[in-house]
Order: sequence, then C-alpha cells, then structure tokens
Amino acid sequence: AMGNPTNIFWHECPVVKTERQKLIDQQGCVVWITGLSGSGKSTLACSLNRELHSRGKLSYVLDGDNVRHGLNKNLGFSPEDRTENIRRVGEVAKLFADAGLICIASLISPYRKDRDACRAMLTDDNFIEVFMNMPLEVCEERDPKGLYKLARAGKIRGTAGFTGIDDPYEPPLSCEIKIEQKNGICPTPCEMAGQVVSYLDENGFLH
Ligand code: PPS
Repeated sequence: AMGNPTNIFWHECPVVKTERQKLIDQQGCVVWITGLSGSGKSTLACSLNRELHSRGKLSYVLDGDNVRHGLNKNLGFSPEDRTENIRRVGEVAKLFADAGLICIASLISPYRKDRDACRAMLTDDNFIEVFMNMPLEVCEERDPKGLYKLARAGKIRGTAGFTGIDDPYEPPLSCEIKIEQKNGICPTPCEMAGQVVSYLDENGFLH
C-alpha cells in the first residue's frame, strides 16, 4: 500500500486559478452525478455537456464506464476498487476544476463516504452533487445493458455484487440537486440538464 509521500515537495505554479478563470471567462467546478445503473447519469451528463457548450462554457465529462477503459482499467467492483475508482476520478475532477473547466463526473459512486471525500477535496461550493433519484424498478425495467437481468440470475462474475441488487447504494443525505420523477413521469434529458443549468446560473457559475 502507498503511504504518505516522503521527500516530495509541492511546487506552486506561476499562473494561479483566478488568472486562468479570467482568461477563459468561467469558473471551474465539479458537477458530480450519482445514482444507480440505468438511472440516467450518462444521459444527463451528455445533455448538460451539450447545453453548456452551446452557452460557450467549456465542460468535460468523466464517465465511470469510459474511465474504466483507461485510467481505471485495473479496477473492478469490489468495495475497495469502487472506493479507489471514485478517489481517482475525484482527484482528476479536482484538477479539471482547477484548470477552470466545469467537470461533469458521472459514476454510480454508491458509497457516501467516497463522495464526501471528493467533496472534501474541493472548496465546498465548487462540488455540486446531483442525485439521480430513480426507483430501482425504473432502472431495472430500462436495463440498457442487460446487467440487471444478469445480476438477478446470479450471473455477474467475480466476488462483487451488483449495485442495488446485492451491493448497497447509499443515497446522499444532502445534495445540491435531486433529479426525480413527477407524477410517475421521468424528466426528459433536456429538463434534467435545465435543472442543473438553473442551479449553476443561480450560483454564479455561468455569469
Ligand atoms: S462505481 O460503483 O462508481 O465504481 O461504478 P462506475 O465506475 O460508475 O461503473 C458502473 C458501470 O459499470 C457497469 N457494471 C457494474 N455496475 C455496478 N455493479 C457492478 N457489479 C457492475 N459491473 C459492471 C455498469 O454498466 C455501470 O454502468 P452505468 O452507466 O452506471 O449503467
């Protein structure tokens, strides 16, 4: 295991965050989207990415599925690996936000302590947690990748369980934004993005 770094020193860069932000006229932050598989995280991430782009704001999506093809390809779905997955993406998101971008992170991130650790890496108001509060039944009914079906059949390989079936999902106790059904109807991608954009707008991220 890695201990605390020794004989390693921190170098301060000459150009600071406020200067970068001024140059590109935007304020870096992390929009962290959490929720069950099939709850619409990636759909929201894409729709928000497009909407911000059309408003002239540079954003970048870090999607769990994608990051697991590269940076995190050595990680599986054991509790320890999920924690490390979230930690790494949190650190990368922090760098992107520091660079001045609106970083959209889209991961199940099932454990509360891991999300809270990411929040703690950033200035509190630069971490915007979005909870996809969709019932398991809805996600399971959608089952875009057929994984719930496999999980129910006990056919997900390895020691790890599937989130929501035999591995826990811990909903946020307090989050900045909650996306949910109204009268049993799911919001459209455009409505979901609109909800986040309103929040960003009201909190000075889009000035
Ligand atoms: S986590 O828990 O935050 O580390 O997961 P994440 O990096 O977001 O990856 C989730 C996607 O991996 C697929 N998958 C699983 N999810 C949950 N549990 C298990 N055991 C599992 N095995 C594979 C699944 O397609 C998730 O994709 P999304 O986009 O969430 O549907």
